[in-house]
Amino acid sequence: MDPSYVSPVNEGVAPAAPGEFAPLAIGPLQLASPVVLAPMAGITNAPFRQLCRGFGGALFVSEMITARALVERNAKTLRLAGFDPSEQPRSLQLYGVDAHYTGEAVAWLVDEDQVDHIDLNFGCPVRKVTRRGGGAAIPLKPRLLAKIVRAAVARAGDVPVTIKFRIGIDDGLETFRDAGRIAEEEGCAAVALHARTAAQLYDGEADWRAVGELVQHVTRIPVLGNGDIWEAWDALRMMRQTGCRGVVVGRGCLGRPWLFRDLADVFAGRRPSNPPRFGQVAEIMLDHARRLVAWIGERHGMRDFRKHATWYTKGFPGSARWREHLIRIDTYQDLEKILADTNPELPFPPHAMRVPRGKSGGRQRVALPEGYLTTLEDDTPPEEELAQATAVSGG
Ligand SMILES: Cc1cc2nc3c(=O)[nH]c(=O)nc-3n(C[C@H](O)[C@H](O)[C@H](O)COP(=O)(O)O)c2cc1C
Repeated sequence: MDPSYVSPVNEGVAPAAPGEFAPLAIGPLQLASPVVLAPMAGITNAPFRQLCRGFGGALFVSEMITARALVERNAKTLRLAGFDPSEQPRSLQLYGVDAHYTGEAVAWLVDEDQVDHIDLNFGCPVRKVTRRGGGAAIPLKPRLLAKIVRAAVARAGDVPVTIKFRIGIDDGLETFRDAGRIAEEEGCAAVALHARTAAQLYDGEADWRAVGELVQHVTRIPVLGNGDIWEAWDALRMMRQTGCRGVVVGRGCLGRPWLFRDLADVFAGRRPSNPPRFGQVAEIMLDHARRLVAWIGERHGMRDFRKHATWYTKGFPGSARWREHLIRIDTYQDLEKILADTNPELPFPPHAMRVPRGKSGGRQRVALPEGYLTTLEDDTPPEEELAQATAVSGG
């Protein structure tokens, strides 16, 4: 690998030594590499998962599916919850705020043989969600969290259930230790910690020390670390620093799905190859766009692809001019035409490797329901949030 493709933070990091990391199993699922594609609403649909899978072995989690909408057989939700026959194992993330709908959703998924793994999302920081007591507000109520997880595990049979959560609401209200303990007690197969608070959203650096602390607390099931895996070397650093058993990769693979190949390389003891030149990136873009079009038709598929197009081209010299066109594409032919006019020899810009994509920076003051902090022992589900059966977004 050209040394310019190793960022200063990763200089001197060595690929995995033979036997250095135990193979990762999530319940009965043995993973080829200890790597999970993070659930990302509006992104980790079947076409994107298949594209990423083509680069390397990992567990590829669906976008978030609202439990109640699934139970009510909402047509759009059912489509988002679907898998291509080539996807194995099938991993789905549920968003639930109560035991009843979460349990019913799990029962349907398992009884109908729709999935091989279920993750539950308890990290959503979106204001309208936490304001109603959903998402990242749930782990503040340990008894409520335990009830939801228990219902899911009880209905999941042999299908492993994992939970994903953040450090807490903010620096003063940390919930990750309780969440880890509950997951272990209630029979989860693993936990994933996004090492930021809800107040942090996606801002700043993830605090990997919290991952290390969770590893000390949760000893019977694997702890997966999440936050700021931009290069394959980051995954090794995170696992070496924290002792976590695997990594969950979010924004780092947006516009860079070959990150999964690099990860497979470093875990197999190899140095990754150089990132692709623009000609190869363009091929990947066309492949991704074709998959989206085949999945939801050209109109919706190409509109959805616009955001990906901006991520794929980020940092390439002259790309600002292409993006003016890319953000307006309506047809696959539009994309082909724009790409035909670019230089295939352009090398991948090293500085683009660690540029966040998908969510911009900025923090928030987390909104909670009135009086929430005085009722933390309560285990009744947030009714107002439950009434919003439609999909919410974000984690
Ligand atoms: C666009 C976008 C959508 C996301 N949607 C979800 C989601 O539906 N469920 C979830 O648990 N996390 C979601 N997340 C959070 C990611 O799974 C991950 O925890 C976060 O991006 C931190 O990892 P990273 O630093 O590698 O990006 C989303 C993140 C992004 C950028």
